[in-house]
Amino acid sequence: MTTFGLIGYGKIGERHVEHIIAHPEAQLHSIFDIKADRLNLFRNKYKGIQTYDSLKGILNDPAIDIITICTPNSTHADIAIAAMKAGKHVLVEKPMAISKVDCEGMIHIALKTGKSLFVVKQNRFNPPVQAVKKLVDEKKLGKILSVSVNCYWNRNEWYYKSSDWKGKKAFDGGTLFTQFSHFIDVIYYLLGDMQILHAQMANVSHKGMIEFEDTGIVSFLLKDSHAPGVLHYTTSAFQKNMEGSITIFAENATIKIGGKYLNTIDYQSTNGFDITDLPAGAASNNYGDYEGSMSNHDKVIDNVIQSLNGKVEIMTNAYDGLKTVEIIENIYQVAVHTGS
Ligand SMILES: NC(=O)c1ccc[n+]([C@@H]2O[C@H](COP(=O)([O-])OP(=O)(O)OC[C@H]3O[C@@H](n4cnc5c(N)ncnc54)[C@H](O)[C@@H]3O)[C@@H](O)[C@H]2O)c1
Repeated sequence: MTTFGLIGYGKIGERHVEHIIAHPEAQLHSIFDIKADRLNLFRNKYKGIQTYDSLKGILNDPAIDIITICTPNSTHADIAIAAMKAGKHVLVEKPMAISKVDCEGMIHIALKTGKSLFVVKQNRFNPPVQAVKKLVDEKKLGKILSVSVNCYWNRNEWYYKSSDWKGKKAFDGGTLFTQFSHFIDVIYYLLGDMQILHAQMANVSHKGMIEFEDTGIVSFLLKDSHAPGVLHYTTSAFQKNMEGSITIFAENATIKIGGKYLNTIDYQSTNGFDITDLPAGAASNNYGDYEGSMSNHDKVIDNVIQSLNGKVEIMTNAYDGLKTVEIIENIYQVAVHTGS
């Protein structure tokens, strides 16, 4: 039995709680949140699970094997480092942190303490992503020729007003960290590292709501294949999420993983290896007023437990988590901001 402690009982924390409780080899031992109302809500819903009102309290609990961190982006590094120093393994929500230096600090402590550090990248488990990963690993696609990534979502005023950290540069980091880091991770997972060439950004429809861009156009070069790539992202799609897709043009196939969150194969023309009989994927994380990525947190929790037991490979290790943060940081570094 793997015993979990959870820090940050917010929107995604609720999902972690449900999936930890549902897993036959997991026990949710305790939780901590800085907000008393969140702790009260938890106590009313779940009886018999310990709650703490301090970080020290939960980290000193000897019964916990692993801490899952579901707090705002900017807090991940300090909490993860404190947890590993207290002798706990760590599962941290995406993004791993909002600077590469912070990720390096986390990895340094993981190596020093011998604790495992897992990062949540649940889109890797999406059936179309797994199907394309298999084709890549089997070298069926041939040379990668180019790639195009479209992230067209909607985040409205209510979304930002109802959060005390989303949209704030110091806590959130930027639209690429909170909304679209999953897509950067999946490009990295499927096609390897990228060199950022140009980036253009603007806040086209969230002025006064967020402290950074809501839209960006990025051009990059895939380091392994030297294939050119383009990423167009926005949270200004009219009224609702429209598309989240990656189209790969390769020597032996053109494949578009699409839907709203990389959940379908929208197009394929292949040299005799069409993807068929995809297992049905999970629905999206639906938060009532807005929609997130595919809800695969059950698979993330299972992977953590089975890899701690030495039965499977870690799906997303800390180095992979760092790479996404590094790529995003590189994009922000070269970005030209245009007014509109
Ligand atoms: N994997 C995904 O698809 C996914 C989806 C949503 C959010 N996330 C990530 O999960 C994290 C949380 O996002 P959310 O939407 O649940 O936010 P949220 O604001 O709904 O929840 C955050 C919770 O953390 C608590 N908190 C804040 N600072 C704390 C601290 N220092 N110590 C303890 N508790 C603290 C808050 O009181 C709140 O209850 C973010 O990093 C976000 O990027 C990932």
